[in-house]
Amino acid sequence: MHVAIIMDGNGRWAAQRGLPRPAGHKAGVRAVRSVVEAAARSAVDVLTLYAFSADNWSRPADEVANLMGLLELYLISETDRCVENGVRARIIGRRDRLSPALVRAVEKTERATAEGERLTLQLAVDYSAREAISGAARLAALRRDALKFEDCLADAVHAVRGASSVDLLIRTGGERRLSDFLLWECAYAELVFVETCWPDFDEKDFQAALEEFHRRERRYGRVPPIAAATALRQTG
Ligand code: IPE
Ligand code: IPE
Ligand code: MG
Repeated sequence: MHVAIIMDGNGRWAAQRGLPRPAGHKAGVRAVRSVVEAAARSAVDVLTLYAFSADNWSRPADEVANLMGLLELYLISETDRCVENGVRARIIGRRDRLSPALVRAVEKTERATAEGERLTLQLAVDYSAREAISGAARLAALRRDALKFEDCLADAVHAVRGASSVDLLIRTGGERRLSDFLLWECAYAELVFVETCWPDFDEKDFQAALEEFHRRERRYGRVPPIAAATALRQTG
């Protein structure tokens, strides 16, 4: 099962407490840790977390620097824990605009955790789904192999293969939009929007979203089995 999360609401969480936005981002890192561990313990194979969108470069320079710094710290401090918990961590998105130090930290974490088999954690950084799709189209044209478009899509953003369909997409913070995240992969994703701001989202909320997912009926354009059986009885 592939779960994707748009971790939104750090700024509002801080504002509600009279704190500066960096305090919200710092508290958000704690929530990442607990949700990653909860996912590793449950039936989730791939967890993709939206950490920084390509459009987030438009934020003030000090906020961008704060977010990039937190990401580097997270990678450095969590790598051992990922290895212990069987988590294979990767970054998806563009890498050419990240600082050399951050790219080194990313590569180190990816190498150290490469054998993890319980959970694949994808952190989307400098990520844009539209850019991913147009990048994949360019790759497919170069390779003259449009049939392998999904592989090109994975290559365009360094994603793992087999993670092409999201089953459940969660967005915290109360907004109901995709903000250029996994547009292709979410074609049949079940969407769960929660009001809770990301720093307050915990294991209990994560389990509640999984339960909500299991209550949904996924139809992929077909009729529900019960309606199909009734239709068969009526025609037969
Ligand atoms: C999500 O929280 C973190 C990132 C987008 C990096 P926000 O910073 O968007 O928080 P709000 O939406 O302003 O509350
Ligand atoms: C989406 O949140 C990006 C991340 C959570 C990293 P934003 O806060 O940037 O999205 P908008 O601006 O509300 O659409
Ligand atoms: Mg936001």
